[in-house]
Amino acid sequence: MLPMSLRALIDNERVPKHIAIIMDGNGRWAQEQGQDRLFGHFHGVASVRDIVEGSAELGVRYLTLYAFSTENWDRPEQEVTGLMELLVETIRKEVPILNKNNIRLHVIGELSMLPDHAKVALQEAFDLTAQNTGLNLVLALSYSSRWELVSAVKKIAEDVKADKLDPSAISQDTLQQYLSTSEFPDPELMIRTSGEYRISNFLLYQLAYAELYFTQTRWPDFRKENLYEAILDFQKRERRFGKTSGQIIDGLTNN
Ligand code: IPE
Ligand code: IPE
Ligand code: MG
Repeated sequence: MLPMSLRALIDNERVPKHIAIIMDGNGRWAQEQGQDRLFGHFHGVASVRDIVEGSAELGVRYLTLYAFSTENWDRPEQEVTGLMELLVETIRKEVPILNKNNIRLHVIGELSMLPDHAKVALQEAFDLTAQNTGLNLVLALSYSSRWELVSAVKKIAEDVKADKLDPSAISQDTLQQYLSTSEFPDPELMIRTSGEYRISNFLLYQLAYAELYFTQTRWPDFRKENLYEAILDFQKRERRFGKTSGQIIDGLTNN
């Protein structure tokens, strides 16, 4: 008999609307097999495909994948070039699959840093998937949260200077409108693979109340079953948002 999939244990009513993932461990996965780090990135694409599909099947609305950070530009040139090639090739190849599955592609990050052929491939993919209404796949590319916050502050300052914004009216909602994630709700679950317990400049503001899940599994080994495990762990947690447990239970019984 086949072992039962964890999928059956997931409460479909309480699947996180937005999951964010730090896809880490590609380099070590490859080096542990005596291979070049790029071999790991190449195999990481299969995990992306599986997790995008698994998320869409579960009815997740937003999936944000941290693919390349601002700081990753400082890696050896050969790795950066290889990653950009892989990005362009993967995006081109995956667009028909995104369309078949009604998935819309978005990107957050400092896109001006990307090589021209990557910019072109991304623009094509945005245009070709813009009508899709299912899962929103958000790639964090050349992204860092501090870059995003500094950009938001600059735009706010410009709008104040141009008399478009009254400083005394700035609220949390205003700031949210100036972030690159303004169209998306905050993630409820953040997963990091490969046994590192840090955020590495990812969605610092948006993760304020996210549940954090860390696993030793390296990204190229991460598959749907691992995603189900993370979601089951999430579903066991009590999200209190600063309130007491009693208040949360009362709220549930009063509804
Ligand atoms: C994550 O894997 C992918 C990127 C950062 C592009 P790493 O390349 O960071 O792999 P490790 O952490 O060195 O194993
Ligand atoms: C974070 O991973 C960025 C991505 C997964 C794209 P890193 O491997 O760059 O993070 P650190 O250097 O271990 O903190
Ligand atoms: Mg890493």
